[in-house]
Amino acid sequence: MTMKVWEIDVFDDDQLRAWLDVVNTVDLFERGDASTPWTFPELAVGAREPSKGWRTVRLSGSVDGVVVAAGQVQMPLLDNLSSAEVEVNVLPEHRRQGLGTAMLEACEAIAKEHGRSRFDAMCAWPYDGPADGAGTSGVEFAQRYGYEFGLGDVQREVTLPVDEAVLAELAAEAAAAAGDYELRTWSGPFPDDELLLSYLEVASKLITEAPTGDLDYEDEAVDVEAHRMHEEVVAKQGRLKFTTVALAPDGSVAAYTDLMAPTHQTTHVYQWGTLASRAHRGHRLGLAVKIANLQALQATGAYDGRRLVTWNAEVNEHMIGINERMGFRPVARAGELQKKIELDG
Ligand SMILES: CC(C)(COP(=O)(O)OP(=O)(O)OC[C@H]1O[C@@H](n2cnc3c(N)ncnc32)[C@H](O)[C@@H]1OP(=O)(O)O)[C@@H](O)C(=O)NCCC(=O)NCCS
Repeated sequence: MTMKVWEIDVFDDDQLRAWLDVVNTVDLFERGDASTPWTFPELAVGAREPSKGWRTVRLSGSVDGVVVAAGQVQMPLLDNLSSAEVEVNVLPEHRRQGLGTAMLEACEAIAKEHGRSRFDAMCAWPYDGPADGAGTSGVEFAQRYGYEFGLGDVQREVTLPVDEAVLAELAAEAAAAAGDYELRTWSGPFPDDELLLSYLEVASKLITEAPTGDLDYEDEAVDVEAHRMHEEVVAKQGRLKFTTVALAPDGSVAAYTDLMAPTHQTTHVYQWGTLASRAHRGHRLGLAVKIANLQALQATGAYDGRRLVTWNAEVNEHMIGINERMGFRPVARAGELQKKIELDG
């Protein structure tokens, strides 16, 4: 079967919508009720606004004029310069006819043209599936093309609000170990560049200091301007970010956490990164910031009934233990895979 593959024009609503329909349909098929679809407005803003940190190419594949496959290549521009995040989706009724292979080849060719030699891929499946993804379409397909399974992740959810008494108990446990650190919480952009710079120095290490299994990642760049541009995109996407930092006595950020609340849909809130920097471990700061941030979000009263979604590496027992006390339950799994190639010439 021949498939026409092209880079979509993200400023063309119809092309972008057709691409997104494939992505969301596949996600629903793979993760069922645990799927976390993008809304069109969020995607359109994200795809159309300039980014200093990422170059993204989106591909559609059509058979007989109907879009049945979607590909994406995301290339970091400030760090991890040898890498590309590659994603391939094929509608369930069109699988096992070579379309995924054709789309993957097109994605990898783009990554190679940009000098990328490390390809990162992620696939998701239901929680009751095997931890190593054996037998799932994504992992079997990726392994067939040389991707190696590096880390298993689990998606957990709890319906808001989390019991305030449990949060108060966890906050008291954290406070008992917190010493001289001061917690500061806000929503929206960073209040000043100095605080932002200090936050980025911690947050840039999340990618390497959270469990990484057999994966190779490099720290992210610390770039205030890129983050400010990203904040503008987040605001235009109608997403509200809640941040809590723990400040050391010298005013530097020792730990942070982010929650993201979209307004284009009213079903989910997302836990983004949480990290305590190495120099400040042992004070339960990760717990302190997480609880304070969630208390602030819940205090708005705007998110009751939404599902709070978090992802953890399966081996991250400490974080998972805390999440389970808050009522999180596992709903899906994912695998992070990597492939390394030699570039010609
Ligand atoms: C993974 C996916 C893109 C494959 O699309 P596809 O069009 O079926 O892929 P192909 O027909 O080119 O398959 C190529 C080979 O991959 C392997 N493969 C694909 N699906 C498989 C499955 N469900 N079980 C076992 N092997 C599988 C087989 O070796 C297959 O060759 P074969 O059909 O001759 O046995 C599709 O199943 C999908 O969209 N899955 C969900 C999203 C995802 O996980 N994407 C991959 C990670 S980026």
